[in-house]
Amino acid sequence: MVDTRVTLSGWELDNPVIPASGTFGFGREFAELYDINCLGTFSFKGTTLNPRFGNPTPRIAECTAGMINSVGLQNSGVDEVIAVQLPAMKEYFHKKVIANVSGFSVEEYAETCRRLDECDQIGIFEVNVSCPNVHGGGLSFGTSPEAAAEVTKAVKAVTSKPVYIKLSPNVTDIAAIAKACEDAGADGISLINTLLGMRIDLKSKKPVIANKMGGFSGSAIFPVAVRMVYQVYEAVKVPVIGMGGVSSAEDVIEMMLAGASAVQIGAANLTDPFVCRDIVSDLPAVMEKYGINKLSDIIGGAH
Ligand code: SIN
Repeated sequence: MVDTRVTLSGWELDNPVIPASGTFGFGREFAELYDINCLGTFSFKGTTLNPRFGNPTPRIAECTAGMINSVGLQNSGVDEVIAVQLPAMKEYFHKKVIANVSGFSVEEYAETCRRLDECDQIGIFEVNVSCPNVHGGGLSFGTSPEAAAEVTKAVKAVTSKPVYIKLSPNVTDIAAIAKACEDAGADGISLINTLLGMRIDLKSKKPVIANKMGGFSGSAIFPVAVRMVYQVYEAVKVPVIGMGGVSSAEDVIEMMLAGASAVQIGAANLTDPFVCRDIVSDLPAVMEKYGINKLSDIIGGAH
């Protein structure tokens, strides 16, 4: 019997399989398809202080081995999450969740986390400083070590829960940004968010996406994500959650060998809603195939 358990800042997960924010909502639709309690946990829909309508449509462009999105952080705001989503979630998900939080100022990140801090259902915060689809926030914090550190410090000051910072691949030195977050008190690093991309429609000769550019995700970005997880693992001592193009149990193991303590699955949920359930059930056989008894033993094993 192999051991699939992993630990994030003292929180033991049954397995490292975590649906990524923005691809799993608050889990309700997936809970109608299968018992989502088989998952390690999941990262809920990116939440801001105030409700957001999101970007104009079209927001999605299909690509070879992936997709581009420019959703623009559409969400119902933190107060609705606390009053409606989290109480409803108790009915179908009995583990703690990851709270994914975005903002447009340091104060907004901190206030959103301060309000969520009272919720027992939240295991850790995942602070998204890497959304490529909004102006005046998101990515602008994640491309500068100083700004990412400032957000980290502000959030750490309002919560006793572990704080993981979700980083962008759209930078020249992701390891330096990860290190700045760790030095500012981050308990972990999540990476990677989407790569900035674009498609142009040949008939209209105009960008497919109304916002022109968006975040590219899907299996095409997996090697980039593995490379960046590998680099960040060497730069920091805190745990790393790896993501980007993961779609199989083999990918989960590869990401953990690069340095991930747990692994998120994003775009794959949109083409196969059962993918995370299947990865959880495939993991033991794939571990046995590669002679792995205890999954946590392989974290960073490629270094
Ligand atoms: C979005 O809502 O535009 C995507 C969120 C993200 O990539 O961080």
